[in-house]
Amino acid sequence: MPSEEELDRAAAILRSGHLVAIPTETVYGLAANALDREAVRRIFKWKGRPLSSPLIVHVASLEMARSLAREWPPEAGILAGAFWPGPLTLVLPKQPIVPDEVTAGLDTVGIRMPSHPVALELIRRTGLPLAAPSANQFTQLSPTTAAHVRQAFGDSVVVVDGGACEVGIESTVVALRNGEVTVLRPGMIAVEAMEALLGRTVHIAGSVEGPHPSPGMHHRHYSPRTRVVLVAANQLPEGAGAYLHISEPQRSGHNMAMPSDPAAYAQRLYQVLHAADALALDWIAIELPPQTPEWAAIHDRLRRAAN
Ligand code: TXA
Ligand code: MG
Repeated sequence: MPSEEELDRAAAILRSGHLVAIPTETVYGLAANALDREAVRRIFKWKGRPLSSPLIVHVASLEMARSLAREWPPEAGILAGAFWPGPLTLVLPKQPIVPDEVTAGLDTVGIRMPSHPVALELIRRTGLPLAAPSANQFTQLSPTTAAHVRQAFGDSVVVVDGGACEVGIESTVVALRNGEVTVLRPGMIAVEAMEALLGRTVHIAGSVEGPHPSPGMHHRHYSPRTRVVLVAANQLPEGAGAYLHISEPQRSGHNMAMPSDPAAYAQRLYQVLHAADALALDWIAIELPPQTPEWAAIHDRLRRAAN
């Protein structure tokens, strides 16, 4: 965990309108003062990210969340009450204080209260909501360790090291509008858990009747450089590659054993993909996990990695 001096330094950088890579429980974020347009523009510049892709704003209290949202429907209170702090982003109508740079010109803003103590502490120390996308170059794999961030940005960005991320994949993004609840990006907070809590149907964007998926959710997102293929157990391509397996390993070659529990699998996924990618082999083959609801978010990330 970072020292007091490191936290003070990071807070000072953030207050001055510059960027700091911060740990969250999902993935590392490239953070800036969400209320400062210039600071937010720096995020897009550093990531090489199109301005059409809105950012998530991280808060440390319900009060801060509500200061950014023009409406706070009952579903927001229920979901935030159950899952905050944690890996859930709520998309709500925005207040005018949220700059258009954060929301890519949309009338809504994505808000999340992370559970990582370092993220919460930096928001409290600065007193600022922090806009932060994943701290990777656009279309590259998301970072789940400080070392991953340094690989992407070198020494040019200050990284606060908060250890390896516990959740390991990006938050569930949920839009609340016109009394409807719609998942824009699946994550480890499952549709079924939200439905049970709310006692109603939660829609999934991109399904036949659903609205559009999250803006900026490009298909080539979360991709390693090496070709990724999703396979049935031991149905491997020709040539040399790394095999991420849940069941039996391949007889020869690089085997990477993956947990059979979805939460543990998600936690390891990007770390293993980063390591497999670094081997620069012909392919990375990933054994498809079971087709059950608790694996839905992992299937989503695997499909994107293989795209
Ligand atoms: O777990 C996470 O969410 C991480 C950590 C750092 O918090 N952040 C993250 O940010 O994954 P990013 O920028 O890589 O992804 C943000 C997602 C995108 O899919 C974006 O389209 C969606 O959130 N999003 C943000 N604001 C939105 C809005 N106003 N309407 C619809 N989707 C929005
Ligand atoms: Mg990202």
